[in-house]
Amino acid sequence: MKNVDQNTFLDIDLKSLGENYLKIKKKVNRDCIVAATVKSNAYGLGVKKVLPVLTRSKCNHFFVASTDEAVEIRKINKKVEVYILNGLVLDNLNIISKYKLIPVINNLKQLKKIERYQSKFNKKLKIAIHFDTGMSRLGLDKNETANLIKNKSKLIKNSDLVLIMSHLACADDPKNKKNQTQLKEFDKIRIYFPNCLHSISNSGGVLLGRKYNLDMVRPGISLYGGNCQIKESKHYKNVVSLKSKLIQTREINKGDTVGYGATFKARKKMKVGTFAIGYGDGFSRLFSNNCKIYLNNKRINLIGRVSMDLVTVDLTDFKTLKQIANKEFEFIGNKNPINTVCESIDTIPYEILTNLGKRYQRRYIS
Ligand SMILES: Cc1ncc(COP(=O)(O)O)c(C=O)c1O
Repeated sequence: MKNVDQNTFLDIDLKSLGENYLKIKKKVNRDCIVAATVKSNAYGLGVKKVLPVLTRSKCNHFFVASTDEAVEIRKINKKVEVYILNGLVLDNLNIISKYKLIPVINNLKQLKKIERYQSKFNKKLKIAIHFDTGMSRLGLDKNETANLIKNKSKLIKNSDLVLIMSHLACADDPKNKKNQTQLKEFDKIRIYFPNCLHSISNSGGVLLGRKYNLDMVRPGISLYGGNCQIKESKHYKNVVSLKSKLIQTREINKGDTVGYGATFKARKKMKVGTFAIGYGDGFSRLFSNNCKIYLNNKRINLIGRVSMDLVTVDLTDFKTLKQIANKEFEFIGNKNPINTVCESIDTIPYEILTNLGKRYQRRYIS
């Protein structure tokens, strides 16, 4: 959406995104494929802009959540491999065939469904299979896994199995023993599937070391500059900046209150600035009285509640209008990294990014 008011900007640094992809490539073994997870509109950044940056860096494998997202990718690029993580949940398999998508089979029922379809219409479709090694969310469970291993040739007759995968539950914590347990579990399974790619790592898995590389890694958040591990040191470049210009300022007196619920009360004469950013733009209400923004090096406190379209800040330290009028204040960016911003409201960068609103004017920097 074009923001005609020209006051709130979401800058997306595609150059840094490309650099983050190449950094991941350097961290993994030379023959390890670095796929990209681009679900939820490339974590809110805009898949139409993100995809060409990654394909230019020779990324050929993309993971999305739903069939709709996969079709969107296919419409942007005819050649790349597109995997649907949520699995074969649709009834009309013609879409999978027409758009050459790769469903990640999450249970034996789905496997039977796609096998039946191929046999009926005399087709050979690419599939991936997800084995659950500890998430208890998607993927074949222990019994189904044993059944598939035992009856592989009966259960996979028509499909072209290109990938088997699993997903780490605790890759955000390198000390967690569950990472090794899951890898070992997957190692036992993958012996039985030697002729396809094997993958277990997301962004966190990439940082766990080369043992976790296998044939393919599937990072998402690292590409977009978000941390994927607890106490992560700086590996990747910031990609997203949220900036805004004031739409109004006012003086208030001691005892005056600011915003809904009058949660902020002035202890002295103050200057208050208002920006056109609110929870309607995905800027969480939990930031109420609980966020710092920046103008150059100056830290500024958000005061009062975040409302649907507006937030208010304390500008008392700025003596002249010239210092603040028409200036871009940084809500998220290099001074105020997304990884710090999310900590103040006890969330993760994934949530902040995927909630980024549609009303911001997006400026793609390449
Ligand atoms: C199965 C799977 N693989 C890879 C990813 C990418 O994860 P991350 O963004 O932590 O790299 C996700 C994201 O949720 C996922 O569900």
